[in-house]
Amino acid sequence: MEIKQVGVIGAGQMGNGIAHVFALAGYDVLLNDISEEAVARALEVIGRNLERQVSRARITEADREAALARIRPETDLAAVGAADLVVESATEKEAIKNSIFESLAPYLAPQTILTTNTSSISITRLAARTDRPERFMGFHFMNPVPVMQLVELIRGIATDQATYDTLLGVVETLGKTAASSEDYPAFIVNRILIPMINEAVYALYEGVGSVASIDISLKLGANHPMGPLELADFIGLDTCLAIMNVLHEGLADTKYRPCPLLVKYVEAGWLGRKSKRGFYDYRGETPVPTR
Ligand code: CAA
Repeated sequence: MEIKQVGVIGAGQMGNGIAHVFALAGYDVLLNDISEEAVARALEVIGRNLERQVSRARITEADREAALARIRPETDLAAVGAADLVVESATEKEAIKNSIFESLAPYLAPQTILTTNTSSISITRLAARTDRPERFMGFHFMNPVPVMQLVELIRGIATDQATYDTLLGVVETLGKTAASSEDYPAFIVNRILIPMINEAVYALYEGVGSVASIDISLKLGANHPMGPLELADFIGLDTCLAIMNVLHEGLADTKYRPCPLLVKYVEAGWLGRKSKRGFYDYRGETPVPTR
């Protein structure tokens, strides 16, 4: 099936990146969020990130203008449902995702492929609540979306081959690389990455090292672009904790227990970059470790 128009639901950190890469690849994008202000803010971020790519000569000014012109702000879910492909990238809460799919249902075209950018919720369970589990898939982008090469493709138990093949083709047109994951808690990337971050928080909690020494160790000792605690702040500590809880509950294994210090940071509202404080304090010129 040919995909021309893509509806992106949720214009936050992930949704604006997803709209950005689809528009740059030539798709018509309908960008949806609950308020016009949220969509307008996302368009500003997309504009700035495209500008950054122009300034680094990754794309031309004409590419930037054409991409922006392909994104239509759309607060009406009815219009979004008529797209060939819908990518849900709203808040990582199952009830919210279910309610979005429910609201979309009356407007979906028969051929529309429904996808979710969930980082850990069961695709099979989400699909079962829709009218089209065979045309439903996990479509998991990494942050920052315009930069990261990988897209995880997750089939639910009922997803049909044609849907998978269509999305594989779409990933190629975005200039990205797909990895296929079975539908088990947190899929592949987060199954491995988030327990590593949790282990870094345990190392901090047990006094094995400071924030700075843990991060520099993995940056220089394992060639990671960011240290695990810096990366945790980048992802959001609430998201890291939510994924650890999904692993802990979904796999019923104590090796996935969230570190109490991670829980404490989340309880304090120190969620990382987005709240200006996490393992680092971002309120000044340069980030300062909080421990
Ligand atoms: N939009 C467009 N371009 C961007 C961008 C954005 N949002 N953010 C960064 N860039 C570009 C920069 O312009 C720069 O481009 P050039 O290579 O053309 O010069 C390039 O990315 C590198 O950026 P910087 O020079 O500013 O900074 P950096 O070298 O420190 O790289 C980083 C920043 C790409 C974020 C890098 O630190 C990195 O790769 N970090 C790890 C990110 C990671 O692991 N992400 C996965 C998180 S897990 C996830 O997403 C799954 C989940 O469900 C939780």
